[in-house]
Amino acid sequence: MNRYESQIYANYEDLDQNVVEENRRYVDGDKINYPSIHIAPKHGLLNDPNGLVYHNGIYHIFYQYCPNGVEHGMKHWNLVTTKDFISYKDHGIILTPTEEYENYGIFSGGAAVIEGKINLLYTANHRDPDDDYKRYPFQCIATLDDEYNVIEKRVLVTPDYTVHTEHFRDPVAIDSKRLLIGAQDTRLQGQLAIVTFEQENYLGSYTTEYLENDWNLQAYMFECPNIFQIDGQEVIMFSPQGVKPSDKYNFQNIHDVVYILNGEIHQLDFGFDFYAPQVFKDDSRTLLVGWQGLPDTIYPGDNENKWSQMLTMVRELKIIDGKLVQMLVKEYEKLRRNKQLYNESFKLSTRCFELNFNICDGSQLVIGNDKYNISLSYSNNEVCLDRSQMQYLVNEEYGTKRYCKLDEDASVKLIYDNSSVDIYIGTSIVMSSRIFIDVLSEISFNNIDDIIFYELESIRWE
Ligand code: FRU
Repeated sequence: MNRYESQIYANYEDLDQNVVEENRRYVDGDKINYPSIHIAPKHGLLNDPNGLVYHNGIYHIFYQYCPNGVEHGMKHWNLVTTKDFISYKDHGIILTPTEEYENYGIFSGGAAVIEGKINLLYTANHRDPDDDYKRYPFQCIATLDDEYNVIEKRVLVTPDYTVHTEHFRDPVAIDSKRLLIGAQDTRLQGQLAIVTFEQENYLGSYTTEYLENDWNLQAYMFECPNIFQIDGQEVIMFSPQGVKPSDKYNFQNIHDVVYILNGEIHQLDFGFDFYAPQVFKDDSRTLLVGWQGLPDTIYPGDNENKWSQMLTMVRELKIIDGKLVQMLVKEYEKLRRNKQLYNESFKLSTRCFELNFNICDGSQLVIGNDKYNISLSYSNNEVCLDRSQMQYLVNEEYGTKRYCKLDEDASVKLIYDNSSVDIYIGTSIVMSSRIFIDVLSEISFNNIDDIIFYELESIRWE
């Protein structure tokens, strides 16, 4: 059977609900990998965060969701909301493919509040079964009522194959008249499109211009663009595909994420698993949520546990001394329990914890058991995260170590959550990764004075 006719492209309503129930039980039974404080699907597969918007005091986090299995198939948008990043409500699937123009899924995009209502900007992924399933991406808008029901959907932008290929997607609002969209041009290079409408709220006719790739980035597609300002300074962020490693530090993963500030391009995260972040604002902060995973990657346990992939924790962005600084939002500190201070190796009795410590030349930290572990070390102005000794390896063909440059001693915050590690070093480095070790029994370290340790309580689901 053709892939496009298989169950992986079924709509949620058409799935066998007994299988859905059974899959949920597998997920509940996963006591090793399922995260306690990162958002993950209740079953099935999640990828990009979408439609991030702070509205009426509530943070709305939609995400790409395929309920049909742990493969990328029919994409829907699922919604979780929170007021404090501690207690969450899962509202289930909000955007389902209902129209012919979106018959192969609702792809990524952003949100805009128009006349007090949340509107979702997305790419309708159309395929034509009568023409070898040829793809046509339409940029669309869906208006939600206060209960998150879709009250209207309409197409905003139709594909123009004279300037881009079928890879044209992921619209976000620049303002009330303009959208920023990721694209591949007809020479098969990544590009960004700006669509400007004649009238407010994306109405009337539109014109499209294409941003020059002034950053000399050899990529075949730019996915999931963002544009935002912090203290009056503009930042452009996107996920370029197919960039070759330029040195030992950059573009080591299958795909990485970049941002442009003051005309200079930088990689955003130096871990093994990070992609497709989206940025939004609340009353006072600029916030980021990413996908703590990668395209084209099946993680250990995905097939057995019937869930796949997670979002990153929420980060606040600032610009300090001309650099983009990322830090965890302070709300997570409320999850801390059982503070301890260690100055020598110690035993672990939890899979979800936070460590705070300082590193200097020669520092090393090892987390795991007597057979399997990961390590973080710092010497000769280089930080190294090594997952070569992890129990189940992932994407080894892209290497098992990640390096970044660090010029001075720095403070480290490390969050371990069952099958992930998030590492914040000084003000310049973040490394987000998935980690697969079944038994975590010990933390040992050298050339680190003290470690402040907290157990972390799970986030709560209403
Ligand atoms: C990025 C991406 C987007 C697309 C979505 C489909 O991970 O490929 O470009 O809209 O995922 O799920």
